[in-house]
Amino acid sequence: MAIEREDSARGITTVVIPAAGMGTRFLPATKTVPKELLPVVDTPGIELIAEEAASVGARRLAVITAPDKQEVMRHFEAFPQLVETLDARGKDEQVSKVKRANQLIHPVAVEQEKPLGLGHAVGLAEEVLGEDEDSFAVMLPDDIVLPATVMAEMARVRADLGGSVLCAFEVPREQTYNYGVFDVEDTADPAVKKVVGMVEKPAVEDAPSNLVATGRYLLDRKIFDALRRIKPGKGGELQLTDAIELLIEEGEPVHVVVHKGKRHDLGNPGGYIPANVDFGLRDEKYGPTLYKAIKQIMAEYEAEHGLS
Ligand code: UTP
Repeated sequence: MAIEREDSARGITTVVIPAAGMGTRFLPATKTVPKELLPVVDTPGIELIAEEAASVGARRLAVITAPDKQEVMRHFEAFPQLVETLDARGKDEQVSKVKRANQLIHPVAVEQEKPLGLGHAVGLAEEVLGEDEDSFAVMLPDDIVLPATVMAEMARVRADLGGSVLCAFEVPREQTYNYGVFDVEDTADPAVKKVVGMVEKPAVEDAPSNLVATGRYLLDRKIFDALRRIKPGKGGELQLTDAIELLIEEGEPVHVVVHKGKRHDLGNPGGYIPANVDFGLRDEKYGPTLYKAIKQIMAEYEAEHGLS
């Protein structure tokens, strides 16, 4: 494990976490609570992503924040008084929970004044990258990708093939209209495809494949130049996928790793709730009771709806 960390660390120093969006699908909660701080069981989504970033050997977390979402960065502070109080009360487990985010990785805030799109948010990260960093990772805090080793695989693909590497999931063809869909060609490795194009939320009959984009990107530094050259797309926002398409058009290598694991979309209640059920069931403390409670709820629901 230590060897893997060291190995992939050579590829990824900075992980960018865009966290400046409005989170409108979570209103009214997001009037005051940033979406990225909503908990999966007891841990905010952004802390899970910071853990993933640390586990692939990254050293810097560039968090893109909005002026009214200061709490996101606060989550990574040390909270000495809280630690002291908990310590004095002998609450060791809680102490380690409070300390964890602060000890994982070095966070740096980059402010996005207005939510001008994911592409705009990622473009702002250029200022924190070291001169020697010719690539960086982007992890969307909305997206839980398990197992969390996919970024290390993506780093290996970049080391072999250069350019940018994205993460793809297979979905049933009839669901492709919800996603960014890759147009791909095979490579020698069945788990790696060369991307020749991307279509955002196509009609099912127009989907070029059943491989869809998820929130993990390993991007060549050239993306910044591409981001400066694109025009606002859907919703008047600067789209990251438009900049990636530009790189593809200009002949830059872009590949996807076809990930066989699991994915949870925390960006809307419909994905967030199943994520909590899944993590909750696997939680040592809450799992067994939750399992019984869910069975009970299911039985009641099925009786009410004539499903049993
Ligand atoms: P989303 O589109 O899922 O997030 O962007 P959102 O805009 O907050 O959500 P809704 O649609 O209003 O419900 C994916 C990620 O990109 C960030 C978001 O914070 C989220 O983590 N983002 C999006 C930015 O940082 N800046 C932006 O301008 C847009």
